[in-house]
Amino acid sequence: MATSNPSPSEKVVALFQPLTIRGVTLRNRVFMSPMCQYSSEDGFANDWHLVHLGSRAVGGVSLITVEATGVTPEGRITLGCLGLWKDEHITKLSQITKFIEARGAVTAIQIGHAGRKASTKLPREGGAFLPVAEGGWQIVGPSPIPFRPTDGVPHELTSGEIAGVIEAHAKAAERAVKAGFRVVEIHAAHGYLLNEFMSPLSNTRTDSYGGSLENRIRITIETIKAVRGAIPADMPLMMKISSVDWADGGFTVEDSVKLAMASKAAGVDLITCSSGNVVAHQKPEFKPGFNVPFAEKVRKEAGIMTAAVGMITEAAQANEIVESGKADAVTLARELLRDPYFALHAAKALGVKPAFPGQYTPAFL
Ligand SMILES: Cc1cc2nc3c(=O)[nH]c(=O)nc-3n(C[C@H](O)[C@H](O)[C@H](O)COP(=O)(O)O)c2cc1C
Repeated sequence: MATSNPSPSEKVVALFQPLTIRGVTLRNRVFMSPMCQYSSEDGFANDWHLVHLGSRAVGGVSLITVEATGVTPEGRITLGCLGLWKDEHITKLSQITKFIEARGAVTAIQIGHAGRKASTKLPREGGAFLPVAEGGWQIVGPSPIPFRPTDGVPHELTSGEIAGVIEAHAKAAERAVKAGFRVVEIHAAHGYLLNEFMSPLSNTRTDSYGGSLENRIRITIETIKAVRGAIPADMPLMMKISSVDWADGGFTVEDSVKLAMASKAAGVDLITCSSGNVVAHQKPEFKPGFNVPFAEKVRKEAGIMTAAVGMITEAAQANEIVESGKADAVTLARELLRDPYFALHAAKALGVKPAFPGQYTPAFL
């Protein structure tokens, strides 16, 4: 291992305590949140992903979660998204997991299906809906309700097609294990397919996948069971949720607590509590740590580990979240783009010896 921690400090800082989930122990509580890079072709990872993810492992975070990765080609948000729908995707991902694990970090991959939010142009090209005539594909969802009025109308998945999507998640998880990932995260947030089923604003079905909360979370619970069955028993399974829709009549944090309880029973170990992006007319209340109260409520009321995400940018803020028991870990996205060494800087600021890479010793003495 190319990391060193020559003289560990005696000081106990919650953010830098290890965290054990099933058979995996993470070196601290600072995670890297999945972030789409829109830099793939045909779902393949490449050197951009290696450097982007590898840098954050060098920077001291404990868990690196690879971006939303399509379980089918149609499950991608854009043509630039990563995929794990065929065995050929495994080779490059294996190189990435090896590099990260050799830096003392643990690799996770977020698998998912973009549902009615699939088939869009890259965000850096405006992110508009990409129609079939321009190289896009038929989008799918729980109900034929478009996300934005300018988007295509999703095909309402049949129960047979739902079974196919669940199976695709399980197959992708199997490939993730082969690629050397030690954690899998199911993407059930941000208005993508599983989340679309949860929300009464995007799911108006009248079959066993719509109506009651139990029915609306059915596809998610079935996906969890299928993925759990496809990965080793000692492998942690995480799930990211949108804790609230930020819209009248939408999913509530009380629903999230019930979802978390059912997910835990089905085999999820840790829930990352994000929010929103399910409906275009949402009214989110952004402020530092805006999702922390959701992580705290889900953790306390469902009795499951949680990670807090969203506008966590300061070492003291991150440490307080963990120390006060609001979440078991923090997971950072944009701050890690600004500062790949956030965890090393945070360790220094909080007075603990960072697990810096040996090669960088002169800079962190
Ligand atoms: C460029 C970019 C790509 C993202 N891609 C994903 C993704 O693939 N999966 C996901 O769950 N969230 C994704 N997110 C959301 C982040 O993981 C995170 O939940 C959100 O940015 C809030 O955290 P932050 O304030 O630390 O950035 C993305 C965010 C950014 C900025």
